Amino acid sequence: MATMSWWSNAVFYQVYPRSFADSDGDGVGDLGGVRARLPYLKSLGIDAVWLCPVMRSPMADGGYDVSDPRDIDPLFGGIEALDELIEAAHGLSMRVVMDLVPNHTSDQHEWFQEALTSPPGSPERSRYIFRPGRAASEPPNNWPSIFGGPAWQQVPDGEWFMHIFAPEQPDLNWENPEVFADLEKTLRFWLDRGIDGFRIDVAHGMAKPPGLPDMADIAHGMLDLDDDDPRFNNPGVHAIHRKIRTVMNDYPDAVTIGEVWCKDSTRFGEYVRPDELHLAFNFKLAEVHFDAEEIGEAIENSLKAVTLVRANPTWTLSNHDIEREVTRYGGGAIGVARARAMMLLTIALPGPTFIYNGSELGLPNVDDLPEEVLQDPVWERSGHTIRGRDGCRVPLPWSGTEPPFGFTTGNSWLPMPPEWVTLTAEAQQSDPNSTFALTQAALRLRHSRSEFSGDLDGLSATDDSVFFRRSGGLSVLVNTGTKPIPLPAGEVLLASGPITDSVLPNTAVWLV
Ligand code: GLC
Repeated sequence: MATMSWWSNAVFYQVYPRSFADSDGDGVGDLGGVRARLPYLKSLGIDAVWLCPVMRSPMADGGYDVSDPRDIDPLFGGIEALDELIEAAHGLSMRVVMDLVPNHTSDQHEWFQEALTSPPGSPERSRYIFRPGRAASEPPNNWPSIFGGPAWQQVPDGEWFMHIFAPEQPDLNWENPEVFADLEKTLRFWLDRGIDGFRIDVAHGMAKPPGLPDMADIAHGMLDLDDDDPRFNNPGVHAIHRKIRTVMNDYPDAVTIGEVWCKDSTRFGEYVRPDELHLAFNFKLAEVHFDAEEIGEAIENSLKAVTLVRANPTWTLSNHDIEREVTRYGGGAIGVARARAMMLLTIALPGPTFIYNGSELGLPNVDDLPEEVLQDPVWERSGHTIRGRDGCRVPLPWSGTEPPFGFTTGNSWLPMPPEWVTLTAEAQQSDPNSTFALTQAALRLRHSRSEFSGDLDGLSATDDSVFFRRSGGLSVLVNTGTKPIPLPAGEVLLASGPITDSVLPNTAVWLV
């Protein structure tokens, strides 16, 4: 493996701040809530926390619409709350990484407000992507927004501005040097305050192709992007990452992790060349079914993508944009069993692992939220045809017997299902068979046993099982089929379900 740093084998825990824990009773999670739960994360075995955006934001996209990148929104407790969180986390030997949103700002950002009151062709407009239309009421090209509708909005003087996401998220013009200069300020601002790195939002999207050509096929969804989609993965993006890296090199312990949706392994690898991002999310494992061949291929391709450039792979099963894995794998008891098996598989792989908050509790997606509570901009933008991502963002159940399960003393911003009474952290912490206990045991072993070292070898993925070894001595078997598989030789370290002399369907086992 390439680089050895604190992050090269770290277990990251993704906090979606609005949904993790609320400390002030307004029903929305905040940084005080995260700080109060650090001992929980420590006991789970987490090395680093990744916070989804907490900067100042009107919350048109849950904080991914930033109006001031160098301040923390009062909703999350203001900048003092971040300082306190960093200090407390460092005191427990945990790192804190924050989301950075360089592709776009909020429409409430002072730059965009200035752009709106300045004429076409002005320096204020050139920080964003303003263009005349093709005809009086026709946008400059045919690009759709990821959230539905066109990727352009017209302003009163007739020009259009680009928004790959919501209209409240105008895309920045990365050809304007002011844009990088401002990002550099932001990077240094947080690094100097003690932040340990950044997850970079839409890291494959900042550069746009010359001439903004039409898209050939406009039928794609958020997780179904073609590599030839002109909105993303343009070659110019690499120069931006190299510039970011020159700043990061002044803080040699800090990490950047790019959100990169790119199917081709070689092109993916380009993002993590030695002078670009330290790490990038490879979503291949989050996209597969509970199917041995698909899982095997995802692992192989993810490794291939980074090996060429001597970077570290990353692994994740879900995040705040993706349906929770319990539901993806079929829901109910089978979904939980499969999610537990995949948790063991993921934790056994070499390289950093990312656990989305609630995965350690085996939470399912909530697919029956009442329409009137939906907040994801996708719901409005799709003309109420796509419910969006709120179902994987329902607040975490902590304790007690009824909603809001200790998440808040007020009303949770999304309603929590009463059935989650058996899934609270409190209930699971005292149950040795719970998903929490399994995750905790798995992370303890990963941190303490020398068998969790070395490269992966002997990967085989057949019709009904995935098997691999770590050169340190760990063997991993996942039964994805419908019949029991004889237990391989060795001492069982941990299993995701009951084990006899065979490994049952939907079960993973670790052996040494
Ligand atoms: C990324 C984020 C997503 C957000 C989008 C726009 O894909 O993960 O939540 O909506 O960028 O910032």
